[in-house]
Amino acid sequence: MTREMTHDGPDADHRLDGMAQGVLGRGEPRPEGALKVTGRAVYTGDQQAPGMVHGALVRATITRGRVTTLNSATVLEMPGVLAVIDDPRLVRFSGQGATTKPPKADAAGVVYHGQPIALVVAETLEQARHAALRLTVDYAEEPGAVTGPEDPAAEVELPQKKQSETGAPDAALEAADTVIDRIYRTASMSSAPMEPHASLAEWQGGKLVLHSTLQMLASAQGQVAAALGIEPEDIRILAPHVGGGFGSKLGISPETVAAAIAAQQMRRPVSVVCTRPQSMETTSRRSETLQRIQMGADDEGRLTMIGHEALVSNLPGQKFSEPVQQATHFTYEAAHRRVVHRVARVHRLVAASVRAPGEAVGATAFECAMDELADKLGLCPVALRLRNIPKVEPGTGRPFSSHKLAEALTEGARRFGWEHRHASPRARREGEWWIGMGMSSLVRVNTVMEAKARVSLSLDGTALVETDMTDIGTGSYAILSQIAAEMLGLPMGSVETVLGDTDLPASSGSGGSFGAASTGSAVYLACLELRSRLAEAMGCPEPELTLKDGHAIHDNRKVPLSTLMGGAAMQAEGHLIPGEAEDKARQATWGAAFAEVGVNAITGEIRVRRMLGTFAIGRVLNAQTARSQALGGMIWGIGMALTEELVHDARDGHIVNRDLAEYHVPVNADVPALEVHFLEERDDWAPMQAKGIGELGICGAGAAIVNAVHNACGVRVRSLPMTVDKVL
Ligand code: MOS
Repeated sequence: MTREMTHDGPDADHRLDGMAQGVLGRGEPRPEGALKVTGRAVYTGDQQAPGMVHGALVRATITRGRVTTLNSATVLEMPGVLAVIDDPRLVRFSGQGATTKPPKADAAGVVYHGQPIALVVAETLEQARHAALRLTVDYAEEPGAVTGPEDPAAEVELPQKKQSETGAPDAALEAADTVIDRIYRTASMSSAPMEPHASLAEWQGGKLVLHSTLQMLASAQGQVAAALGIEPEDIRILAPHVGGGFGSKLGISPETVAAAIAAQQMRRPVSVVCTRPQSMETTSRRSETLQRIQMGADDEGRLTMIGHEALVSNLPGQKFSEPVQQATHFTYEAAHRRVVHRVARVHRLVAASVRAPGEAVGATAFECAMDELADKLGLCPVALRLRNIPKVEPGTGRPFSSHKLAEALTEGARRFGWEHRHASPRARREGEWWIGMGMSSLVRVNTVMEAKARVSLSLDGTALVETDMTDIGTGSYAILSQIAAEMLGLPMGSVETVLGDTDLPASSGSGGSFGAASTGSAVYLACLELRSRLAEAMGCPEPELTLKDGHAIHDNRKVPLSTLMGGAAMQAEGHLIPGEAEDKARQATWGAAFAEVGVNAITGEIRVRRMLGTFAIGRVLNAQTARSQALGGMIWGIGMALTEELVHDARDGHIVNRDLAEYHVPVNADVPALEVHFLEERDDWAPMQAKGIGELGICGAGAAIVNAVHNACGVRVRSLPMTVDKVL
């Protein structure tokens, strides 16, 4: 039996608040944690299969053109080498951004430097890699646009749906008492997950069994089917453990397709494990952005005009373009507004979703501009933001599902000690260091995705949760077990959660901060169905039924669950369907970030000394994993502000710094004491009153650091990351 719920509007039934056990919301440790820290969790790259051979990707050494000859003969004589596979289906698949539609035949060429064009298969990984490096390739080359979105050779498109104008922005700007008109730049960035991309493919009969590093298995099934020209039903994908994705594993990547093709041809299991450079060069990246932000304000600091123009890049034909202005539409009030969105077609690695696509870079630049405006107005940056919070969504007039930006700002300011900030730069010095404080609002759209899950209740008092959901390090195992334990009145140890297998009910997958609330709601619904049946057996209405410690309780009766189940195990499915709720209300998460930095007056070195974030995300499902997500988000902010930048070679567009030694994500020494504070909130418009948390931290946190640097030393940096040369 399936319990379906179409998410059409608010649900004020806060039943999870009244549950008997109080397991949900608690900081429960991850049930799979011990496996991970003892090295027993088997990740894709560690998967073995009898008779398995190894594939290594061969990659283009030109930016654009066609392969004319693959000189396979010489490498085929090398020890252990079994085959060189240059199936056009592999060449055509240029990256994660590829849609589920089969690529057009004329797209069968090289479109970026480093694009996989063949796979060498050998008995060992070392033999395969050696041969792949030795393979020489002849090309017919064409020129490409490689220097970035401003390359004169890049065609620029203005997708109609992404442009908007309200009122008379130019006249409003002209009439404004105070005006800001600035250009900000953010760098090309990498998801840089710890676990490299990998796939192990095996054909069993006519069916493809694929172990792959993926965030969303059900949609990946469709993508593999489209890339190979087979049916999704003939594909099973497994990913019980995923070592971070940050967007780069939302869709399949070339190594997935290559492994599948090779396994079919070799009639043996084929494992393709990307090297670190391959992981960074063949999957996806975040587009660099150029953002022009205009603001007009009256003399009381009320915004009259907001303008946000963006230029981003992607490969020709790719649908995705970094949704820079996603939250610009509703974060602050202003009667006159303009959004312009341009996409330049460049020949660089495909651009796709990376860690909060849109707000991560869009809100960051906007929050830097807000700081400049506050400065010009002589207003406290917190006060400026408080003055411009809309009551309903600007433009549409829709209500906000919940809105705690004001509270996030004031509570954050209080906890951080914002009143000790000096209004003018260069007011506080400790030895060689200028010390300053900065802040920003945090905002991220909240998304609900379709999700299914199955919950089985056994007579021995245990429950099993099954869904194709992934755990990318975020805590899915813990959270889904908690929901079932809470709903069914079982101790955490009696609930097992099995994930990462497309043979199980299709979940939301992990991405866009939607995983825990969407798939969690499917588990919730399955449990609700089981509760209804138990209540029927108990002879009471379901809401009056208390389940605790393996017993059903109503009035003065207390019955063991096994007795109530009448000698048979029970099973139910839950199915959450996104409905009209998203159209009826603007759903978002809100927060504020505060940073204190030191800027070395002699060297220009920037050190983040402390940071604090306030987060309003609806119901917190697991206090421990939620806190970790919030910390991670703020740390991404440190990376965006100070270190993260994919450097593309100006001659051919290839990525120069393609490993974790050269692409700098913050390490422990870069991360100071961070404080996370969740505001008590229930969002009735969100299923289970819970919203996403994974990405909120990055959606502005970098700006708090940029603004703190200005407050410290008086330098405005408008191009991220703020390397030393830009500060001096
Ligand atoms: Mo996310 S960038 O949707 O993994």
